[in-house]
Amino acid sequence: MDTQGIDWQNLGFSYIKTDLRYVSHWKDGAWDGGTLTEDNKVHISEGSTALHYGQQCFEGLKAYRGQDGSINLFRPDQNAARMRRSCARLLMPALPTETFIEACRQVVLANERFIPPYGSGGALYLRPYIIGVGDNIGVRSAPEFMFSVFCIPVGSYFKGGLTPANFIISGYDRAAPNGTGAAKVGGNYAASLLPNHEAKERDFADCIYLDPATHTKIEEVGAANFFAISRDGTRFITPKSPSILESITKYSLLEIARDRLGLEVEEGDVFIDQLNQYSEAGACGTAAVITPIGGIQNGETFHVFHSETEVGPVTRALYDELVGIQYSTRPAPEGWVV
Ligand code: COI
Repeated sequence: MDTQGIDWQNLGFSYIKTDLRYVSHWKDGAWDGGTLTEDNKVHISEGSTALHYGQQCFEGLKAYRGQDGSINLFRPDQNAARMRRSCARLLMPALPTETFIEACRQVVLANERFIPPYGSGGALYLRPYIIGVGDNIGVRSAPEFMFSVFCIPVGSYFKGGLTPANFIISGYDRAAPNGTGAAKVGGNYAASLLPNHEAKERDFADCIYLDPATHTKIEEVGAANFFAISRDGTRFITPKSPSILESITKYSLLEIARDRLGLEVEEGDVFIDQLNQYSEAGACGTAAVITPIGGIQNGETFHVFHSETEVGPVTRALYDELVGIQYSTRPAPEGWVV
């Protein structure tokens, strides 16, 4: 693929084939050495557990072209750790952090020409995944596994980037109270396809999921996490629940809010009938970065936070710090940038 035709300023979030991906196989108790391949097709047994029983997990992280020309991976050790937790939940063999980061490093360097230039607002999105493969039919863990990492240049996930978007409370659950919600596994995302479709049909950017046990508290915003700022502007709050996917961006914002903006931070309950306690709210994640939440539709009620068109001051300050760290225009906390 020729990069000449790429409109770096308007990338969006769509698949394009890049040059090389990393692939490694697990068999008889061990991962092989791994290699880079040009082949973007996966050839697996028709009996693969990934196809029938959803035995797979994935990650999402980005490489950024810094202002100084550097190439930065943002907290890849956290993705490696989360992937190990996902693997444990689905009875899959995990990879050492060093192998995970080395695979990501190789993919970024092999596809350097696809890293969006500094100033375009884009980044190279890496998609590591592990799938259960090999001949099998019973509901059991696969006899073999494949780990791969591919990459695509991306811009904003939600249309408009740092402009407020509206969301609607879903009547569906994406995960069960003690299910796989905290693991980054495809089944959670399969469960989200219909709610997402129905939200978009009604002109919302996506839906918001409530806690599956009581349906009274906000859990997640589509494929992103949720945060809010207290009405007096002093407190950053984000939901805590065993069925939430633990966003690395969310935990980074929590630290930024505390250490750089001097806010109190809290992982706690955000009750859907108490939204007037908050002056700002946002969706956050690797793909979404930060998307300010303009308003939330809950049944017949539409609650507007700061504004449906303007970004709130705390949300903007969080965004500037986070993105500044990722593109090397602001100092990074120890170990955040590789
Ligand atoms: C990410 O932010 O990396 C995600 O996982 C969202 C995604 C599934 C597009």
